Amino acid sequence: MTKLIDNERLEVVSVRTRPDLLPVIAEWLWHQWWKEEGRSLEETQAIYAECCKEAGAPQTLILLANDMPIATVTLARKDLDERPTLTPWLAGVCVIPARRGKGYIYHLLEAFDSACRQASVKTAWLFTNTAERVYLRAGWRVVEIVDRAGKLPVTLMSRDYVQYQIPETLSRRGRFLLVLSGHNPGGAKVNFHPPALGI
Ligand SMILES: CC(C)(COP(=O)(O)OP(=O)(O)OC[C@H]1O[C@@H](n2cnc3c(N)ncnc32)[C@H](O)[C@@H]1OP(=O)(O)O)[C@@H](O)C(=O)NCCC(=O)NCCS
Repeated sequence: MTKLIDNERLEVVSVRTRPDLLPVIAEWLWHQWWKEEGRSLEETQAIYAECCKEAGAPQTLILLANDMPIATVTLARKDLDERPTLTPWLAGVCVIPARRGKGYIYHLLEAFDSACRQASVKTAWLFTNTAERVYLRAGWRVVEIVDRAGKLPVTLMSRDYVQYQIPETLSRRGRFLLVLSGHNPGGAKVNFHPPALGI
């Protein structure tokens, strides 16, 4: 996925295809969260080295701006201990400080949505106590406030990826329009997110 915006080439790559970027993102994520959790930088890198599935979780994505890594997100199997049955999760969201407040996160959230659709995810989850507005703008919804023993409460949010099967009876024109609208990348099975279509 590559875009040219204001002369800047934005590209989303994965740890699977760019393992050379692991030390860079591990350092960001270690400073942001894992250090406080008592993990070493090496452990943090080992955790993200595992996030290399071609489809589905765990999968770490990295946003490059003119080939420079500036942000990352992970499609994770689990994230919130208080909700162990929910899966998969949007986790490890980080934009480097110098690039914050410029909307870069939305490029990664778009790539995350594609990864979910590719893996036929029905609902993805996240928790936050700092960035609820960012996710609301990107189409996520608030599910509940989760209290955690000895920690600050967090907002649990979700995003649905509804899957539609094109009815065999749909006319040739109907099928054509669905494909044209970009919602039938892989054949008869169509994934789309309702808010994107205004329904
Ligand atoms: C949260 C985060 C991913 C948002 O990414 P982004 O690309 O900066 O997103 P946006 O450009 O939409 O800006 C998000 C907010 O940060 C504010 N902001 C502006 N400049 C900023 C800066 N230099 N530093 C931090 N936030 C800034 C924006 O005004 C905006 O506020 P609003 O949501 O109240 O309107 C990013 O700030 C980040 O990595 N933060 C640290 C890690 C973190 O909190 N991750 C989320 C865990 S759930």
